Amino acid sequence: MTLEPIGATTAALFVRATRPADVAAVQAMTRAVGVFSAVEVATVDELLDAYVTQGAEASGYHFVSACRGSEVVGFACYGPRALTQGVYDLYWIVTAPQASRHGVGGRILAEIESLVAARQGRMLIAETSGRAAYASTRAFYRKYGFTCEASIADFYAPGDDLAIFVRRL
Ligand SMILES: CC(C)(COP(=O)(O)OP(=O)(O)OC[C@H]1O[C@@H](n2cnc3c(N)ncnc32)[C@H](O)[C@@H]1OP(=O)(O)O)[C@@H](O)C(=O)NCCC(=O)NCCS
Repeated sequence: MTLEPIGATTAALFVRATRPADVAAVQAMTRAVGVFSAVEVATVDELLDAYVTQGAEASGYHFVSACRGSEVVGFACYGPRALTQGVYDLYWIVTAPQASRHGVGGRILAEIESLVAARQGRMLIAETSGRAAYASTRAFYRKYGFTCEASIADFYAPGDDLAIFVRRL
């Protein structure tokens, strides 16, 4: 029998709220994607811990997992932006490297858009870096209807701009 890469399997892809049992997989893929710094990885761990221990509403961090069968192949974290009416931040979105470019990220985005719209959300904001390492991330947001509405040069560090992508729901 030949093993296929995860993205090519026929098991149906679905997105649901992240469960405590997903934590190890979420942590592993955050480390495996290779674009996040140690501080960013630690931040994901921190937000995930707040979500698991306090819950989504109390922590303000809503995690969803994309699954094929029992395998977690992606996740995202979003939450309401303080002091706004109906604006939500997409804090993190990650697809396991072996499942990339098979629509997992797009499926997660579609689910978040529908969850946010159901809460009278009207705008989703994704802040990302202007560095070359994030070119595929920027292409991803554009592919799914986000537009880069603002940027700040040298925001994260000299030569590392902030790009603010917006999706109006
Ligand atoms: C961004 C990310 C979530 C996309 O997930 P995905 O499951 O591959 O997304 P989809 O399959 O739905 O969409 C793929 C699209 O994303 C972009 N993309 C993803 N990987 C790419 C790559 N290696 N090179 C170029 N474009 C890429 C393209 O627009 C691609 O569309 P195409 O295949 O038609 O060219 C995933 O690449 C990832 O985890 N990146 C690292 C973490 C990250 O930067 N997260 C966002 C900031 S928190």
